Amino acid sequence: MKMENAARDYSDHPLYKTMHQFWHPVAYSSEVGESPMQVVLLDQAIVLVRIEGKVAALADRCAHRGAALSNGMVVDGVLECPYHGWRYDAAGRCVKIPARNELVAAMKPSVPAYAVCESVGIVWVCLESEPRFPVPDFPEYDDPSYRHIQGPVYDWETSAPRRLENFVDFSHFAFVHDGSIGSRSRPEVDTVEPWREEHVLRFERPYIKEPSVGQKRKMLGIEGDQWIAVANSYRVMLPHAVHLRRTFENGKHYVLMMAASPVSATKTRSFWWISRDFGVEPEHDGILLDFERVVLEQDKPVIESQQPKLAPMVGEEVRLELPVGGADAVTLAYRRWYVELIREYQARGQAQGVKAAAAVA
Ligand code: FES
Ligand code: CO
Repeated sequence: MKMENAARDYSDHPLYKTMHQFWHPVAYSSEVGESPMQVVLLDQAIVLVRIEGKVAALADRCAHRGAALSNGMVVDGVLECPYHGWRYDAAGRCVKIPARNELVAAMKPSVPAYAVCESVGIVWVCLESEPRFPVPDFPEYDDPSYRHIQGPVYDWETSAPRRLENFVDFSHFAFVHDGSIGSRSRPEVDTVEPWREEHVLRFERPYIKEPSVGQKRKMLGIEGDQWIAVANSYRVMLPHAVHLRRTFENGKHYVLMMAASPVSATKTRSFWWISRDFGVEPEHDGILLDFERVVLEQDKPVIESQQPKLAPMVGEEVRLELPVGGADAVTLAYRRWYVELIREYQARGQAQGVKAAAAVA
């Protein structure tokens, strides 16, 4: 058995707290219907339900006796608790107490309702009322020349920043992905220079050869034994989403969109799309899904072994890691930005604390 750090309480950790101000993916749109479902975001149980076509996101705990509303059902356009039948509207207001309905007006019970929206086939929730950045986008999603595959979600025992960093870490390809997207014979990586645009960290990798991707190559109609992408544009949408658009020699594109959701400080659920504007016949989907699945299975044990699981960015823990100039340029730029967001969040919290103290005095 491998040694693991003892379970830690991250509830007061500045990185964990900062995550509360962002939109996070919680489900695919196609999963959310009139039948309520529970999701967990930053240790908060949330019930998602579609009422009159719109998704509502409420705390999954009835105000009466704490039963999970996700075991209830929609009745007459409102969500009914399975225990004593209290009913809640999409804003979390209780509109019916069947045992004593005349008390609704006096008691005004409610459960917290969270900011929720749907974009690119994903339901996004923010636990705070003013999300710090816009919802991650994915321009090809509405382009009819593309075919999209909704990837099955996968859960990793790590933090969302670690999952994101793995996606944009190129020096692991030669070792973790030898023979799939990398090769031990070519461990050097090119230096990329990331830059910021609004809430997006962008960078380009100009030219990538991948070994042994025979079937993908056939779909592209490319001769020879390598899959060559002439342009690779990355957009890391802070905090935990990434959009990679690869352009091939024949002008066709392969797009990966991944959005990682912090279920807790140390558990991450990833939502992802594969999109392409070549070989769009559905029978090719399996090849691409299988290929990406192999890559993900290679990553999972390594990423789950990283300690500490919450990426060290602030405080004493920063010294636990030794980034390599050039090779770790993206991770460094990402962490630098994330640390700024943590500091900003802390400063705002302090300013609010001062305001509250002034109001009391
Ligand atoms: Fe929900 Fe009683 S616990 S109605
Ligand atoms: Co990898």
